Amino acid sequence: MSEDLSSKNHDDRAIGVFDSGIGGITVLRELVKNFPNENFIYLGDTARLPYGSKSAETVRNYSVQNMKFLMSRNVKALIVACNTASTQVFEDHFEKCPVYNVIGPGAALAAAKTKNKKIAVLATRAAIKAGSYTQKILAHLPDAEVFTQACPLFVPLAEEGWHDDPITNLIAFRYLQNLKSADIDTVVLGCTHYPLIRTSIEKVFGPHVHLIDSGVAMAQQIGEDFNSGKIKPNQSGNVAITIALTDTSEHFEALSAQLLAPVSSVQITFETVSVI
Ligand code: DGL
Repeated sequence: MSEDLSSKNHDDRAIGVFDSGIGGITVLRELVKNFPNENFIYLGDTARLPYGSKSAETVRNYSVQNMKFLMSRNVKALIVACNTASTQVFEDHFEKCPVYNVIGPGAALAAAKTKNKKIAVLATRAAIKAGSYTQKILAHLPDAEVFTQACPLFVPLAEEGWHDDPITNLIAFRYLQNLKSADIDTVVLGCTHYPLIRTSIEKVFGPHVHLIDSGVAMAQQIGEDFNSGKIKPNQSGNVAITIALTDTSEHFEALSAQLLAPVSSVQITFETVSVI
């Protein structure tokens, strides 16, 4: 009897997170920071990056394969960290565990933060084309003005680790200068890679503009679902972080370890996997 009760109150399985590449580590970083007692398995589909230049159908196929891989690792919750993938998969995709995508929490946070209802969404070409952020923001604030801008060169700059670099600043200015005259007060970083080059984006808009980070929005959502009991906490006392990549990359390993070091001292296990 007591055995049954305790098994209902905790769940020691990992939370699964996936992204096309390094960007989703910004989401993982927020999750690890907020839920340090949880186990995580992160899948980076490095063999097939970038997703942002691919068709909706291809992104959907890749995403479903990634989700099946994480399900095969018996995760207790599955987080689609990649914004581009999030436009193509839906929360009710699997019955066995809750599935989260970053669009809903990011759009809700943007709608909550804006004062003048002028919001910019920066994302990949595929995510902008899907229009999901605009739809979700307008569902919260029907009279909002939503401006969109695809910034495809931000992804390789973030992957390269040029996070506060004159070249990144120049490219940020080139993409975003037209938005400056629109009196925007809130900017959705609608691609997981963009928080890595946040400093360059901030330099264009100035410090008064709210930058919405998918990782922060997702951590809030997961926190609410821990509180409501939708997700049960790990109480085993053992914590592991696994990073699985579809193509081996020493650069990825070094950069992800560097990004996670300020929030966790847990030793990361790296694996190379196939999801096909
Ligand atoms: N990290 C992905 C996203 O959030 C985009 C990167 C890519 O193009 O693969 O949209």
